[in-house]
Amino acid sequence: MTIADDLRALEAEALAAVDASGTLGELEEVRIAFLGKKGSLTAVLRGLGGLSAEERPEAGKVSNEVRRAVESALDSRQAELAGAARAARISAEAVDVTLPGRRRPVGRQHVISQILGEIVEIFMGLGYMVAEGPEVELDYYNFTALNHPPDHPARALQDTFYVRDLSGDRAVVEGESDVLLRTHTSPTQVHVMESQKPPIYVLAPGKVFRRDVADPSHLPQFTQVEGLVVDEGITFGDLKGTLEHFVHQMFGPERRVRLRPHFFPFTEPSAEVDVSCGICGGSGCRTCGGEGWLEILGCGMVDPNVFDFVGIDPEKYTGFAFGMGVERIAMLKYGVPDLRLYVEGDTRFLHQF
Ligand code: PHE
Repeated sequence: MTIADDLRALEAEALAAVDASGTLGELEEVRIAFLGKKGSLTAVLRGLGGLSAEERPEAGKVSNEVRRAVESALDSRQAELAGAARAARISAEAVDVTLPGRRRPVGRQHVISQILGEIVEIFMGLGYMVAEGPEVELDYYNFTALNHPPDHPARALQDTFYVRDLSGDRAVVEGESDVLLRTHTSPTQVHVMESQKPPIYVLAPGKVFRRDVADPSHLPQFTQVEGLVVDEGITFGDLKGTLEHFVHQMFGPERRVRLRPHFFPFTEPSAEVDVSCGICGGSGCRTCGGEGWLEILGCGMVDPNVFDFVGIDPEKYTGFAFGMGVERIAMLKYGVPDLRLYVEGDTRFLHQF
């Protein structure tokens, strides 16, 4: 065995080890094992010094070839493994730009706010101004100044939320508290007439509260819109024409309006207003309970007693008022079967509007 044979054998061994290394770390171990200070090839190269002058040129040439071959194999394997490592890292970090993005749900105005907006729009078109009153009210505004006699049943506790007596934390008994949650928007009429002189054309939207258990046709809190007109020469005909205009704008020109005599303490005469059923056109169906008509609001001519409370001369001025439930208007307009749907916050319901 010549030293050249040794070198060739080591070369073959080194090249096989280079090929077999699968990571940069393994490849470095191979480099150290063959070409490091204590490497097997290094050891052979060191031994060249002890050769005879005849042997040296041949061995020197072979040793150079072997070292270069091993070094270049290490280099190219190094490049290969580094490239593969980079490719693996890139594919692990890859972002799939074809994935659909995450949609953020878009909110929208609540159906009651939408309908309220439509109502306000219609009356602004007739020159009305918007007024707002407090939700926590004095008995005086909610009842007394609206001509409710002291023993009127609407003052009974089952209808009205009285605000707790400030002197103690026991429940308030009727008559012991004059602070309550307004049961209708009509007290705003009184505030407006106290602070403005006729002519008055106002719309007063807002929350109202009643001691009712929520069911398909009742909510303990709902929304009303009050209308009040006070001017010289206002007649019941003006009231009827105004409401017909409103109904045609809100529900469509084909709908008819009917007024039925009714009673409210603060209007005289008073009426309840029906709109012809949008499902059957008035012939009677399940929606209107066979009646052909659906009730939408209460109204009447302002009672002279109310004018007396606010110091408006009933000899000079007349006026009308009306009050409607917004939840009910929306129910009739869209066929909503249960008032509780408005407050449950189910977006599958709310997003239909
Ligand atoms: N305030 C009455 C109610 O809540 C409605 C109404 C308003 C009636 C104005 C007549 C005039 O039922």
